[in-house]
Amino acid sequence: MPLGFPAEAVESGLGFEPGAGDIFVASYPKSGTTWLQYIVYLLIRRRPIGPDETLTECFPHLEEVGADAASKQPSPRLVKTHLGFALTPFSPAARYLVIARNPFDCAVSFYHHTRGFPRHYDFADGSFADFFDCFIEGEIDFGDYFDHLVSWHAAASRNNVRLLTYEALKSDTRATMRSVAAFIGGDAPASVATEAALDAVIREASLPAMREAQQRWSSLRPDWAPAFVRKGVVGDWRSLFSPGQTRALLAKFDRRLGGSGIEALWPDVLADARAYAEEA
Ligand code: A3P
Repeated sequence: MPLGFPAEAVESGLGFEPGAGDIFVASYPKSGTTWLQYIVYLLIRRRPIGPDETLTECFPHLEEVGADAASKQPSPRLVKTHLGFALTPFSPAARYLVIARNPFDCAVSFYHHTRGFPRHYDFADGSFADFFDCFIEGEIDFGDYFDHLVSWHAAASRNNVRLLTYEALKSDTRATMRSVAAFIGGDAPASVATEAALDAVIREASLPAMREAQQRWSSLRPDWAPAFVRKGVVGDWRSLFSPGQTRALLAKFDRRLGGSGIEALWPDVLADARAYAEEA
């Protein structure tokens, strides 16, 4: 857990009792969680978050605030979690949207995140090499990327769990949003029933719009640190990964996920990584 998450909140969060209508957004950190949360929020609540509001108040992070705070929301309750499937409070009557991101971009985004919250991590001057060693060992917040992904990928065979990728949300935002709305059900499909309504949600949750008033998404970061909504692209991993680090992460990917079908989530990124790994 990140420093600053009260132990009692984590403990009570694990005991949260989900019920009919509850909607979870589950992810490993830095996978596009905030983006998907905001989309879900817009589909359900049908109004933008104002500059004086925060997403975390409207869509609480279970293990940060605990079960009570999560319970007190209006129905349908919206819950964020970074827990793996085995620890996530589960009910067949709730819905679980899972967003996964390729591990290369996830690691780079997590590195910038970790540097940018010096109060939480004491890593302001940390190097990518040091962070990468922690990432590949799974010695970071919420543990091992691969354990997390494997657990939710298996859970996605249930009809109330839907796994999507950051990359699909980027490359086909319209279709992915429509399928998210259909999965959520209730009033959500009506929120994007017309092209104009869908356009409005896409615009409100777009990268440029979410770059505005970033205090809506996270606590303050120092001026020198990249903002919380940072580059928001696929492929930024190339800016920091060496060919050797690429080889090491590919080897772990193949060892942990080979034959699982998970490779098919990211054919382009993996092909690019395999080509880069051969350089030098
Ligand atoms: P980068 O650091 O690669 O830019 P999370 O919410 O799970 O912490 O994920 C954060 C990542 O999602 C960051 O990635 C951030 O820039 C990206 N992101 C946030 N809002 C986005 C949006 N509207 N479109 C695309 N990417 C977005």
